[in-house]
Amino acid sequence: MLVAQISDTHILVPESAHSAAQLRSDCLRLTIADINEQQPDAVIFTGDTVQHGEPEEYARLRDLLAPLEAPLYLVPGNRDDKREMRAAFSDCAFLPKTGDFLHYVIEDYETRLVGIDSTLAGERKGRFCKIRQAWLDTTLRAQPDRPTLLFIHHPPFDVGDHYVGGYRHPEEATALADIVRRHSQVAGILCGHVHWPVEFDWAGTAARIMPSIAVDVRKGIDETEARERPIYMLHRVSRATGLASQAMTVEGLA
Ligand SMILES: [Fe+2]
Repeated sequence: MLVAQISDTHILVPESAHSAAQLRSDCLRLTIADINEQQPDAVIFTGDTVQHGEPEEYARLRDLLAPLEAPLYLVPGNRDDKREMRAAFSDCAFLPKTGDFLHYVIEDYETRLVGIDSTLAGERKGRFCKIRQAWLDTTLRAQPDRPTLLFIHHPPFDVGDHYVGGYRHPEEATALADIVRRHSQVAGILCGHVHWPVEFDWAGTAARIMPSIAVDVRKGIDETEARERPIYMLHRVSRATGLASQAMTVEGLA
């Protein structure tokens, strides 16, 4: 299965006084065109989709996402407003219509896709409360033999000096690690939030953080040239090889 991942687009309305409003829209537009050429089976979006969680920003986001050909599955980031996100994507059957959490399982592929909601309104840091812990454990217990990809906004692990996010309660991140460690079918956990790329082994699986699509908030990439191009990830997952990930650089930004 081939999965494209985008994250941290931080979309603004065109009327915004923010100098990067047009730039961020261009970054996403060009990325969508490039993803269409790769023809992935699915696209996952690991949050911070818009900058302020406002309905006008979600309307702009929907316009930009419209040309995307593959099915899109998204989870909220700390910049998202879950009520507004739910309203803007009300046609997406996978999003729960009620309840506090925008988490779900996609069963349409050989690999199960599990979107995890690590957000709480007004909270910048990650949360993974006992309700969510029980949901994920139960979800993974249901099909222990199918390869499974997890995706979540906040990485539940330390990624170095300039990671100012983290989890409000570190024991919640530990609980997530304990659950993943118990379920060997988890082929990987895909994250956003920190705006720079990281990959390593964590809790017995492969962990990936992708850089922000919005190049003006990107960190951790020294080459000026790379900073000027959107980057998304292509993940190939199979029973035989597990998770293989590739960074894709998008050309065409003015
Ligand atoms: Fe972000």
